[in-house]
Amino acid sequence: MKKLLCLLVCLAVPVFAQKWEGIALTPPMGWNSWNTFAQHINEKVVRETAEAMIANGMRDAGYVYIVIDDTWSKKERDENGNLVADPEKFPSGMKALGDFLHERGFKFGIYSCAGMTTCGGYPGSWGHEFQDARTFASWGVDYLKYDWCDHGTADARDAYKRMSVALRTAGRPVVFSLCEWGQNKPWEWAEPIGHLWRTTGDIYDSYDGRKGWESGWKLLLNAQYDLVTGNGPDGLGKYAGPGHWNDPDMLEVGNDGLTLAESRAHFSFWCLLAAPLMAGNDVRHMSPEIRDILTDREAIAINQDAAGKQGFRALAEPAAKIEVWVKELSNGEWVVCALNTSDAPADITVEWNRLWTIQGKFNVRDVWAKKALGDTTKPTTVRLAAHDVLLARLTPAK
Ligand code: GLA
Repeated sequence: MKKLLCLLVCLAVPVFAQKWEGIALTPPMGWNSWNTFAQHINEKVVRETAEAMIANGMRDAGYVYIVIDDTWSKKERDENGNLVADPEKFPSGMKALGDFLHERGFKFGIYSCAGMTTCGGYPGSWGHEFQDARTFASWGVDYLKYDWCDHGTADARDAYKRMSVALRTAGRPVVFSLCEWGQNKPWEWAEPIGHLWRTTGDIYDSYDGRKGWESGWKLLLNAQYDLVTGNGPDGLGKYAGPGHWNDPDMLEVGNDGLTLAESRAHFSFWCLLAAPLMAGNDVRHMSPEIRDILTDREAIAINQDAAGKQGFRALAEPAAKIEVWVKELSNGEWVVCALNTSDAPADITVEWNRLWTIQGKFNVRDVWAKKALGDTTKPTTVRLAAHDVLLARLTPAK
């Protein structure tokens, strides 16, 4: 009887397997094709992107996941039900592309969908989860973004769990990125299933515009505050940490609809939120200023801090046109990000003693200006462009 019980338990283990542990202990960093290339992605762009990321320092700054988003496959599966890469866009095939990336120190990411079809109308993984996970493993895939279109009456928890188990069963460690747009509050249930989950709808390259289903980054930032009541450290951030991240969507840094200041502020907030940093611009052709934002080691260190604490809004004063967000780092330091919400340049004053979670005296370093700004005993005033930020790192003062 005991033997029988043991056998049953042992057989049951794969069914209860959880996600791959020990990966994505800091927010994943990389590049994703969607925001710039959408359906025009192909292997030439991917290869050139990888080479550019080596030359411009992005890879060495930590951007290692290169993720091919929707529209990469043929519209039909093959006669055995396998997904097939579009031979016109990816003539060398996905295994060869994965090898190319791995040889250059990158990790290979791909996209599928929990529904019958992807958001672009290509085959989804519904009913093919285990088969597709095996296909991805055979191509050397290290990261799967998994969307939520055409899901019918499917239960999100079940659908995402099934793919999570399929990825475990296929045997290759994969970072699992749930892209369910926050509709079923994945922060409440996805930690054992995946490594990051979208909290919101799609981003586009705007400060606070809205285009149907797409929002500018400031609206997505607002949502990080609004989605869960009990703000401050008890807000949405309490669901995030090493190996499991809230994802307010990929970066629009460097894309046309943002000013340089808006790109810098967008990047600063995504660092402060401990958000995944997935660049979404054409990194083959970007200005030195945008490259400097994306590869800034001090800003990235804030994002990649080992404690993995998500920042939160501490102050919002529409009349004074200022918003202040804070993030606790692992070593007693803090980060403060103050945004000029005005559409014009303005003097912005940070009154450190009003940031109630930060106790004690600190020295202040301006991360973007790369200079010391005194300490927190007196308010600090800086001139900021419209929608620009002061990103400050606070170190305990003796
Ligand atoms: C959804 C996702 C986007 C992108 C597209 C692709 O809208 O949220 O990030 O993957 O699908 O079709």
